[in-house]
Amino acid sequence: MNRPEVHVNCAMSADGKIAGSDRAQVRISSPEDILRVKRMRMEHDAILVGIGTVLYDDPHLTVKGLDKERNPVRVVLDSRGRTPDNAQVLDDRARTVIVTSEECEKVWKGAEVIRAGKGRVNLRMALEALYGIGIRNIMVEGGGEVIASFFENGLVDEYTVFVGSMIIGGRNAPTPADGDGRKVGSNAGLHLMEHCVLGDGVLLRYKVQNNHL
Ligand SMILES: NC(=O)c1ccc[n+]([C@@H]2O[C@H](COP(=O)([O-])OP(=O)(O)OC[C@H]3O[C@@H](n4cnc5c(N)ncnc54)[C@H](OP(=O)(O)O)[C@@H]3O)[C@@H](O)[C@H]2O)c1
Repeated sequence: MNRPEVHVNCAMSADGKIAGSDRAQVRISSPEDILRVKRMRMEHDAILVGIGTVLYDDPHLTVKGLDKERNPVRVVLDSRGRTPDNAQVLDDRARTVIVTSEECEKVWKGAEVIRAGKGRVNLRMALEALYGIGIRNIMVEGGGEVIASFFENGLVDEYTVFVGSMIIGGRNAPTPADGDGRKVGSNAGLHLMEHCVLGDGVLLRYKVQNNHL
């Protein structure tokens, strides 16, 4: 299967949460980490998030200062076509691809649509289609459901997590890999490649082992 390299990047609190228990966005990254994420986005052909992140955070997923041609492609996984027409990912600052299911008939002004899989987006089909439009590496920024799904399918090559100096708490607060947890463990042995202090937090970068389902 031809697919882009997949690099997951997220920020979590020191108690392992990526947002509040109401799923509201929390600023976890230090200013130094924000700069690193900006550089990392510039090194990737595409940035991918799930529809949950679009609905809760409404991110624009662009690099400030880059024009439309130089910004990475924005990719949203949205099986049921729930991306609001006024979502920031649909603005004209970058190319946008919404990956949806075969049953979903919605189209959006400002986005190309890829249909991959029945019911829920099939990640392998989605990655093959993204490879087909020239995307060779992809940065998966969240949220927890989507990241878990990439791990469950053995489709993560690198995992980078910034650990911020805060406690968020809450048993229902999302974590970097949510989902039902049934298959993640067998597909995500990690090999630590880099660790460094970035402001008041720590950056950990891992290669993923055993991603060969
Ligand atoms: N700290 C960080 O680094 C960071 C980064 C990003 C987000 N966040 C936080 O994460 C939270 C959102 O995360 P979330 O887990 O609720 O949502 P999410 O992972 O962004 O999106 C999940 C949704 O994506 C859709 N999806 C489509 N295909 C999928 C597939 N193959 N596998 C999994 N999901 C698929 C599903 O909805 P359909 O079935 O309807 O398509 C699913 O419910 C927010 O609180 C946000 O603030 C934190």
